[in-house]
Amino acid sequence: MSVKIENKPVSVKTFFKRKAENQKITMLTAYDYSTAKYIDEAGVDSILIGDSVGMTVLGYENTLQVTTDDMVTFTGAVSRGVKHAIVITDMPFLSYQITKEQALENAGKLIRAGAQAVKIEGAGETTLEVIKALTEAGIAVVGHLGFTPQYINSIGGYYIQGKSYEQAVKLLEDAKKLEAAGVFAVVLEMVPEEAAERVTKELKVPTIGIGAGRYCDGQVLVIDDIIGKYSDFTPKFAKKYGNVKDIIFNSAKQYDEEVKAGKFPSEEHIFKMEEKEKAKFENYSINNG
Ligand code: KIV
Repeated sequence: MSVKIENKPVSVKTFFKRKAENQKITMLTAYDYSTAKYIDEAGVDSILIGDSVGMTVLGYENTLQVTTDDMVTFTGAVSRGVKHAIVITDMPFLSYQITKEQALENAGKLIRAGAQAVKIEGAGETTLEVIKALTEAGIAVVGHLGFTPQYINSIGGYYIQGKSYEQAVKLLEDAKKLEAAGVFAVVLEMVPEEAAERVTKELKVPTIGIGAGRYCDGQVLVIDDIIGKYSDFTPKFAKKYGNVKDIIFNSAKQYDEEVKAGKFPSEEHIFKMEEKEKAKFENYSINNG
């Protein structure tokens, strides 16, 4: 598969500039060509092919079953629709924790598929080593702290992180470690506003919040949540701006009724033969030519 990789006008530099100028950064997830195209045309700064694709598109219960090959496919589709935003892809569960070599190889696949950066969860020793190796190889990395969905089984559920003094201190120290390792931004998911505000003040790199309050340098949400498409559950922090579920349901229902009632297709949706061809065709007899 060959992919045309273009440099998009929004880059890592734009992120730093926005933070320096106290201007917010926007990020939305996307998983397909058309959605990415519209998000990009709307002026959103960055598009994340989140491993949330496992739930929103592939119907898994969580993100753990998503593979690098899955992410390569979705990254290619999104990247082909984007002209302006920076495209960032999640490295899925166990694609970067086993060895540095494997992490580099998998990140390389995502960059070749059209991502300008990758996102990695956590700040453990191995993860920090991997971030250093990736950035040394010229791969831009976004960190992800707070609630980290790939740790769902060790966290034990969807819990807010950083509520206690100890947890908030750990969050801050982990964020500083990520910065030192070379990330150019840190996603903070489901953390109290006070903790996210302090992390944002202490870091030179921008923070992008999701359920992390008002003081992060930017905000990210899952597209399927904001357009009202994914309905298995909607987190408290996800504001709904549309109702695509109803659009799909109502369109499918009306289509089903119209086909069954013989109302669709109508004159405006059909193709016609030229009269001459039609006459000849009507006179054609299968056995006699
Ligand atoms: O996978 C995802 O969509 C994410 C966002 C929630 C930040 O990581």
